[in-house]
Amino acid sequence: MKMNLLSPIGVFDSGIGGLLIAKEIEIQMPNENLIYFGDTINMPYGEKSKDFIEKNSLRIASFLYKKKCKALVIACNSITSNALDVIEKKFNKKILIFNVIDPVVKSKIFLSSKRIGIIATSATIRSNFYIKKIKQNYKHLEINQISTSLLAPMIEKGLKIKKNIIQNYLNNFKSIDTLLLACTHYFFLKKEIENFYHGKVHLIDVQKIVVKEIKKKLYKEKLLRIFPNCKKINHIFYTSNLKKSTFFEKKTRTLFGKKAFIKKHIF
Ligand code: DGL
Repeated sequence: MKMNLLSPIGVFDSGIGGLLIAKEIEIQMPNENLIYFGDTINMPYGEKSKDFIEKNSLRIASFLYKKKCKALVIACNSITSNALDVIEKKFNKKILIFNVIDPVVKSKIFLSSKRIGIIATSATIRSNFYIKKIKQNYKHLEINQISTSLLAPMIEKGLKIKKNIIQNYLNNFKSIDTLLLACTHYFFLKKEIENFYHGKVHLIDVQKIVVKEIKKKLYKEKLLRIFPNCKKINHIFYTSNLKKSTFFEKKTRTLFGKKAFIKKHIF
């Protein structure tokens, strides 16, 4: 299939985490249409096996490919670290593929830091994907990573996360200078984490770094819509949870307002 300038950008995650990547795409590339898939019925991916993550993310990638997206944005660390290779193998050269890890580990962001902490889901930590990639680029860095598996499912449900849960996790990182929120759901906890560190630890701005990279590549491939869209911009958000009024719908509505069309889809 030939990639088309006017086609939408496909973004996917297990749930609401990738919505803030989608929002950043809207901010940096306001002339683009989006198709989003949140596999809310199978969430949390971070507690699933590699095999489960591979099978289900390939299904979503095929779905977005059939919707004629020009790019596929894997807005999930658990999927990137467990299934990026199989997705790339299946869709290489057919569609542009982006993920939330490579642009971050390749950026110069770690040059000025000495000790970093990484919080992520069990699936991401188990994969050792970050450690391998960061060590390739920055030999001097001391890296500590922990899985903070309680967080994503609570964020997905819209539950208030008690201060002591965050404290218990972050107390593992006493002397870091930089913290990487290596799960897209955790972007929703940025304020609480900043408060814990009183601004003394640098939080990497993953969304900005990732989307800047996507924009650069689309521009290079002449696939970036520079001129305002003559039609109204519409974003379609698919969720695999068929229940009414989920937190996914509420959050999507808050972030995208009337531009968002929410649909249900099960495979
Ligand atoms: N948002 C996903 C990530 O970045 C994880 C959420 C989940 O466990 O499903 O890893």
